[in-house]
Amino acid sequence: MKDQTNRIPPATEPERQYYYIDLASGLLKERAGRLNHSLTFHVTTFGCQMNAKDSEKMYGIMDRMGLTYCEEEKDADIVLFNTCTIRDNANQKFYGHLGSLNDKNHRNPGRIVMVCGCMMQEPECVKRIIEGYRIVNIIFGTHNIYKLAELMCEHLMSGRFVSDVWDRPGEIVEDIPSRLKYPFKAGVNIMYGCNNYCTYCIVPYVRGPERSRNAKDVICECEKLASEGVKEVMLLGQNVNSYGNGIKDCITFPELLKEVERVEGIERIRFMTSHPKDLSDDLINVMKGSSKICRHIHLPLQSGSSRILKAMNRRYTKEQYLELAKKIRDELPQTSITTDIIVGFPGETSEDIDDTIDVIKQVSFDGAFTFVYSPRTGTPAASMPGRPSGEWIKHEFDRVLTAVQEESRKRAGLFTGSIQDVLVEGISEQDPSLVSGRMSNNLIVHFPADASLIGKICDVKLIDCRGFYYIGERL
Ligand code: 5AD
Ligand code: SF4
Repeated sequence: MKDQTNRIPPATEPERQYYYIDLASGLLKERAGRLNHSLTFHVTTFGCQMNAKDSEKMYGIMDRMGLTYCEEEKDADIVLFNTCTIRDNANQKFYGHLGSLNDKNHRNPGRIVMVCGCMMQEPECVKRIIEGYRIVNIIFGTHNIYKLAELMCEHLMSGRFVSDVWDRPGEIVEDIPSRLKYPFKAGVNIMYGCNNYCTYCIVPYVRGPERSRNAKDVICECEKLASEGVKEVMLLGQNVNSYGNGIKDCITFPELLKEVERVEGIERIRFMTSHPKDLSDDLINVMKGSSKICRHIHLPLQSGSSRILKAMNRRYTKEQYLELAKKIRDELPQTSITTDIIVGFPGETSEDIDDTIDVIKQVSFDGAFTFVYSPRTGTPAASMPGRPSGEWIKHEFDRVLTAVQEESRKRAGLFTGSIQDVLVEGISEQDPSLVSGRMSNNLIVHFPADASLIGKICDVKLIDCRGFYYIGERL
């Protein structure tokens, strides 16, 4: 596609995208002139940290195209939805949202609606949107978010609906603009995709096979973020402990952590997610010797029953999980362990749930996300027999939730009276005389202070545990 001045877009990335950002910026300016107001955009993100990170990149691109962010989705001229398809309720939520936009859209016929992310990697979702939601102008997937400006140009120049979804990843394109949601903390992708094929999970199909980023690029990104004022980085991957697998001469995840630790200005390091089958002693040792790695490990259990774990293709048993959790508790006593649990997997019985509750009690999780199993088209579990009834699921889900809440309340209470370093994230939503911050172990504390502390790390004494958060006072 050539522009009006007959320039030819560069063939290599990221130069090609900078060319399109420039072109889109001009086209949008013309559109703003015609509409007689400057154009705004809004991004709505569904799902996980990976999507949040992708949204920051797309925010950066739109910002660079000269658009202004608008807090209210309904008022924005350009709206982008970054979708999630991990469970069916995520899909339904999005369709509902899009439906309500359909009505409101009559008030803003000039609006451009873009949809991207995991749902768009599923052909039946794309079909449903094309057939049922004519307000959508641009669709793309998870592998080509960096092409947002190019797709926008295509739409603006042709006036037509544009769809570009790749069924497998292309090159990893870095160095495109990104804009942080919080100026003091940032996610950093260290790998993309997943190779584990847990039988219930759609991620390997919509995010593709595992690809690790070059360690040098990861460190450069951390250095750049630190120079821009970022204090906390969250290293992101579906299974960070397999970082570098299959790449010749690539360093391991614990080695990568040591490198990030050396980056001046970065004061806290988090990572997400750890698959229990790959969490190594090396990682525990590196955490022990580190003053920057936060005391928090998210270690998805999924089920406490070895039989169900096998059917899930998780590749560890109940006993192996318990042994690993005990090692973490012994070696890193201040570290919180959080988890994900699925209830209602095909063939699951109350005895299996008893095993899950047994693990919850033995590990005493600091926090857990509990999900009802949701069959995903194309995954092996979707065609497994023995789906439990809704009534059974409701009852067993409540049993699991009660156990989880009891344990996390117990664990949270253990820190009363201690002094913790806290990264202040913002003014408390409940009480504007308080700020809210996060401790190294990921617990939230609210304490009296003003906005000048946002983005700073300070010592806070924990006075009162209110279930899952604390009220504290600054020292
Ligand atoms: N149904 C329910 N929960 C799921 N998860 C992933 N796939 C499904 C599914 N099909 C949960 C897992 C995972 C978390 C991100 O989402 O617990 O760890
Ligand atoms: Fe899904 Fe399993 Fe990969 Fe996690 S490790 S993204 S649950 S396939």
